[in-house]
Amino acid sequence: MILVTGATGTIGRHLVGILGEMGAPFRALVRDEAGGRALGCEFVVGDLDEPASVVAALDGVDRLLLNSGGALPVAGPQPMVRQQTAAIDAAAAAGMSHLVKVSAWRPAPEAKLSVRAHWEIEQHLASSDVPWSLLRPTGYMQNFFTGEGGFAAADAVSGPYGAGRVAYIDARDIAACAAALLTGAHGTGGTGGTGRAYPLTGPEALTHAEIAAKLGVPFHDQPPAEAATQLRARGLPDWFVDDLLWLYADLAAGNLSEVTTTVHDLTGRPPRTFDAFLAARG
Ligand SMILES: NC(=O)c1ccc[n+]([C@@H]2O[C@H](COP(=O)([O-])OP(=O)(O)OC[C@H]3O[C@@H](n4cnc5c(N)ncnc54)[C@H](OP(=O)(O)O)[C@@H]3O)[C@@H](O)[C@H]2O)c1
Repeated sequence: MILVTGATGTIGRHLVGILGEMGAPFRALVRDEAGGRALGCEFVVGDLDEPASVVAALDGVDRLLLNSGGALPVAGPQPMVRQQTAAIDAAAAAGMSHLVKVSAWRPAPEAKLSVRAHWEIEQHLASSDVPWSLLRPTGYMQNFFTGEGGFAAADAVSGPYGAGRVAYIDARDIAACAAALLTGAHGTGGTGGTGRAYPLTGPEALTHAEIAAKLGVPFHDQPPAEAATQLRARGLPDWFVDDLLWLYADLAAGNLSEVTTTVHDLTGRPPRTFDAFLAARG
């Protein structure tokens, strides 16, 4: 039995669909009944901030997909670190045979926000007794419609992106990789097993000007100072704005432009292009 956390989210809602089609036994962890009913699969109500509910949800479970929301502008350690390390401890106590964690592209101690948080969680996972796999995706194509891509709010792709290329990935391909690992249906080239990190990208690295053209909207390459002013005007604290600018600078420097073959290796088919992603949205 597989437990899927983050099941109502960008990756999770596709993962429950894929696991359902595969006929794999699974249940979703959701924070409220309505979310579970909307998924249309077996679910259990729980919260990563309430470890006892996670322990209960893991009853009868031997594989776990660990995924939850990103960085928040809150003081102190990121909530995701507290939530996911507690879930790892619960998984270890329950004797999980495989924990697949959605992480981020190149987590590192010197990184910021969610990328740094994922590094901390990965350290905790590596020091646990749980057999693990790490999915390390670049940015999601879906960001351009969820507001994280600086597009949905203003009908323009706007941000200090520069000319840096990013190999954005369709979250459906991340879900397919997760399903392959969780069910053991993975691997065309010896990529199976646990204790591995999988760098996941789309098939092409695009500039944000190219993405804006595909979306049919203007591209505004904001100077970082202008972006900072806008972000502060939204009420975000100075330290959070500085860290967001670090993330933008990482993108602008081309640090997420590498294209990997991992989606193909794990699923047996190539990752979706940005054009295919847009076509599927209709
Ligand atoms: N977006 C990107 O480009 C990108 C790139 C690399 C890595 N990531 C990582 O991907 C992960 C998911 O980010 P996302 O923005 O795509 O979010 P998401 O998966 O769309 O949404 C977050 C999911 O986590 C659930 N969740 C949040 N807090 C929870 C809690 N306390 N207990 C149980 N479930 C909880 C939410 O449930 P509800 O429906 O109840 O809110 C939702 O299903 C993050 O760790 C992020 O760092 C994102």
